[in-house]
Amino acid sequence: MSIPVILDVDTGVDDALAILFAVRHPDIDVLGITCVAGNAPLAQVVDNTLRVLDAAEAPEIPVAAGAVRPLLEPPRSASHVHGADGLGGVALPPTTRRAEPVGAVELMRRLLLEHDEPVTLVALAPQTNLALLLRTYPEVGSRIERIVFMGGSASVGNATAVAEFNVWHDPEAAAIVLDAGVPCYMYGLDVFNHVAIERDVATILEHGDDRLGRVVGALLGHRIALSEDESAEYTGLIGDAGAICAIVDPGALRTQVRPVRVELAGYGRGQTLVDLRRFPGEDVVHGLADEWAEVEIALEVDAERMSRLFLTTLGLGAGADATADAAATAAADLEVER
Ligand code: BDR
Ligand code: CA
Repeated sequence: MSIPVILDVDTGVDDALAILFAVRHPDIDVLGITCVAGNAPLAQVVDNTLRVLDAAEAPEIPVAAGAVRPLLEPPRSASHVHGADGLGGVALPPTTRRAEPVGAVELMRRLLLEHDEPVTLVALAPQTNLALLLRTYPEVGSRIERIVFMGGSASVGNATAVAEFNVWHDPEAAAIVLDAGVPCYMYGLDVFNHVAIERDVATILEHGDDRLGRVVGALLGHRIALSEDESAEYTGLIGDAGAICAIVDPGALRTQVRPVRVELAGYGRGQTLVDLRRFPGEDVVHGLADEWAEVEIALEVDAERMSRLFLTTLGLGAGADATADAAATAAADLEVER
C-alpha cells in the first residue's frame, strides 16, 4: 500500500530531484505540494515546482504557494547554490499547470482532513509553512503520521559552521515544529552530504536519449559556485530526494531517537543541538535540564543503496550499471598494465 505524503518544498535543484523521485515511486502517493521561500523567492519556487511536475509527467497534483519569508527574518535565497532561477540554469519548458487558489496552510489542512489515514508531511525546505499550519490549526496534528524533514545536523553545518540551511533560514519555525508533539524524523546533513551520483553517471544521463534522464543528469550536474573567483564544484548530491528514499527504504539508514532542540540565539542560531550522550549529565542530575523534543535522527546511510534506489526508481539504473561496468573494466585494465 502506498504512503500518502504532502511535500513542502523550496524548489531548488535537489527539491526537483525529490519531486521527480516521489511522483515516480509506486509506494509514495503525493497528495499535494506546498511551496515556501527558501532556495529561491516564492514565485520562482512555485513556477519551478509546476515545471518539475511536467517533467515528471505527473498526474494532476495540487500545488499551493505559502510563506514569502520566514517568521522573523527576511528571505535569503541560496542562488549561489541553486542558481538565480533555483534550478541551476536547467531550463524546463513553461507549463500550463497552475497553483491552487488557496494558500499552503489551507491546502495542507484540507488534504490532512479529507484523507482517510494519517498523512506523512515531508519538509524539504525552511519549515515556515508547517509552523503556520500547526499554529493556525493545531488540531490537524493528530492527522499527521509523522514529519520527515530534511534539515539540521548532529555534526557539521552548511549555512553557518554549525547550522543547516533549512533550519537556519527559519529557526523559530523549526522550533515550533519540533515542539508540536508530532513524531519527527530528521534527515540532516549527517546523511544528506553522503548520497551522491558519480559525475560520469550524471554526464551519461545528461547527454543520453532518455528525456527524464537528461533532466536528472542536468540537475545532478549543476555546479555550486564557491565564490566569484573560484571555479564551481560538482557534488552530484541527490539531496532532498534522500529524505524520500529514507521513507521507502528505511533500512538503508541507521537512526537513533535522540533529544533535539533548535538554538535560537548567538552564533549558534539555527543549529540543531542533538544530545548524543549515553548517560545523564550534570544538567539532568542537578535538575537543570529542560525538555527537548525526541526525534528519530538518521546518522548513517548506505549511500550506494540509496543512489541505486534513486536511479532505478526513475528508470535510470541502466546508465548507472553501464558506468559501473566501464569503471570495473578500466580498473581491470589498470591491473593488467601494472
Ligand atoms: C537544504 O537546503 C537547500 O539548499 C536544499 O534544497 C536542502 O533542502 C540543504 O541544507
Ligand atoms: Ca530544499
